[in-house]
Amino acid sequence: MRARAPAKLPVQDARRIPAHLLRRSQVRLAARAAYLVARRTAATLTIERRLGVETARELGLAELGLDARERCRYEPSAWHALRRILAPEEIGADDVFLDVGAGKGRVLLQALRYPFKRVIGVELSPQLAAIALGNLARCSDPVMAGAHEVITADATRFPIPDEVTVIYMFNPLRGAAFRELLARIGESVERRPRPLRLIYNTPLEEAALLESGLFLPLRAVRGRRPGRAWAEKTAIRMYVLRAELCGGDSEHGATR
Ligand SMILES: C[S@@+](CC[C@H](N)C(=O)[O-])C[C@H]1O[C@@H](n2cnc3c(N)ncnc32)[C@H](O)[C@@H]1O
Repeated sequence: MRARAPAKLPVQDARRIPAHLLRRSQVRLAARAAYLVARRTAATLTIERRLGVETARELGLAELGLDARERCRYEPSAWHALRRILAPEEIGADDVFLDVGAGKGRVLLQALRYPFKRVIGVELSPQLAAIALGNLARCSDPVMAGAHEVITADATRFPIPDEVTVIYMFNPLRGAAFRELLARIGESVERRPRPLRLIYNTPLEEAALLESGLFLPLRAVRGRRPGRAWAEKTAIRMYVLRAELCGGDSEHGATR
């Protein structure tokens, strides 16, 4: 997942790369693009049609007039992303879920299958937020019908609700914007110390996350993309808030 995919290498860089390596990387990019189209078509024909929702089509933020270097485009998580990293038994009646950069709501729909008290999405684009709400309203699966809301806001300025106990993100932000988001999480925990789990899909900013000193890694599952490097890059990781930030409830915090 990149903020914006460069179509081609800049000419001066391309000249320095041997022709056979350049060809190989172009073939790899084309193969990945074909793979993603095939997966999207399969998801549309099966899961999306059955549920009566549309979350598969990717959208660049430039198309929505919200393009900026550190904001990532809309691309959905896999339909089983949440289930692969989080078991329903790990969720209690007081847990509240937040998807930062909720897009068209695919992960909100997945979260509604868990016994969360509430499921919240925050999304920068009003158009995407409206699509997410439409999907949540139209979804024909009664299991995916719990308390939910989708808030249109910039996640770098949005105060994280203090009842949130599970945060999900699929690379909404990079660089300084990602660090701003971490600051908002830190503020929420300072206001109300509590156990907090963070699920990070394709964690391109993992170094910044660990440097923040807020979270420690708990577990990970590899991405289901073909090839070792791509599968590693698209892993889903779970982190837990450091025990000393959880307030009295250090049972669920990490102490390493
Ligand atoms: C890779 S998509 C993930 C969508 C969804 N969470 C999922 O996994 O299916 C990233 C989303 O982050 C949103 N986004 C980018 N910058 C944002 C910001 N500053 N505040 C809130 N959302 C943002 C994009 O519009 C996009 O919908």
